[in-house]
Amino acid sequence: MTASQPLDQTNQDSESASAGSSAAETEHVSVMPNEIVQWVREINPTTIIDGTYGGGGHTRLLAEVLADAGSTSDTPRVIAIDRDPAVVRRDEQKSWIKNDPRIELFLGSYESSPKALDALDLTHADALVLDLGLSSDQLADRNRGFTFTIDDAELDLRFDPENGVPAYRWLQQHSEKEIADAIYQFGEERFSRRIAKQIFLRARERNPVTKVGELVEICRRCVPRSRNHDIHPATRTFQALRIAVNDELGGLTRTLQSAPEWIAPGGRVAVISFHSLEDRIVKNAFREDHRWEILTKKPLRPTDEEVQANPRSRSAKLRVAKRVE
Ligand SMILES: C[S@@+](CC[C@H](N)C(=O)[O-])C[C@H]1O[C@@H](n2cnc3c(N)ncnc32)[C@H](O)[C@@H]1O
Repeated sequence: MTASQPLDQTNQDSESASAGSSAAETEHVSVMPNEIVQWVREINPTTIIDGTYGGGGHTRLLAEVLADAGSTSDTPRVIAIDRDPAVVRRDEQKSWIKNDPRIELFLGSYESSPKALDALDLTHADALVLDLGLSSDQLADRNRGFTFTIDDAELDLRFDPENGVPAYRWLQQHSEKEIADAIYQFGEERFSRRIAKQIFLRARERNPVTKVGELVEICRRCVPRSRNHDIHPATRTFQALRIAVNDELGGLTRTLQSAPEWIAPGGRVAVISFHSLEDRIVKNAFREDHRWEILTKKPLRPTDEEVQANPRSRSAKLRVAKRVE
């Protein structure tokens, strides 16, 4: 393995960037690991892209899938990609990555998978695995704003804090209507207009929302508690802002549109999504492009045992498609 290689330009040196991460080891438990291994192993892959490296759990398992393939002359490889510099810098020097010639770790978006292939003199991958959303490590990081239990954290919400704009600035750059539309569209939050109005009023009073706790407080006032109290009043709003600042749905759509050009005929794409907006994009991308053959008519769900052991997996949906020959 070579040192991690940036696919996209970053604008900070690695020392200052890694200071933002508190997680020395991963706490993330991979979702639907057996299913991912099974769907990928069936095609005897030589090149697999794990587009969402996270805690590296899927990458490790996929490397073992490669080892079984063995028969071709190409070097079997897992190309692991993550957009979060803290994640990549945490792991790039770990011995299980450094000493394993099968694993190449890249910093960047999975949207840039062709660039990663190109860097290794490859044109096609046999499989692409995406496990969308954020990892438990990111959720636990006090400095990122992903969890709304840390009131004084800056409202950032970027996967890559070295590029783009943090959520609090995004709020300052958009109109009340644009904020309401985003919260409605990406969070499916019925009270989006009320929330946007409160955010906007604060900005007009020269007291803009910049901290997690301030947005949580607005959501508490604007969203009536659901009858069974199953969801925190800020959940949908935070999801919406995270999706907006990271352009998550755009990136997923563009990647699935371009993937038939760099997934080898007979190759597979497996996507684990965690909410209906993502799942709809995956479903439609597979349906609408004749270069995909759908292998999972309905999305696969984690087993009861997995959900019990790893409650975070409960909303996961896995869809798999094959690049037609
Ligand atoms: C759910 S975690 C993946 C966990 C991983 N599969 C494992 O087994 O440990 C999602 C990861 O995807 C990363 N991510 C989100 N959007 C991305 C993108 N567009 N490109 C690359 N990585 C992305 C996040 O930074 C996060 O680390």
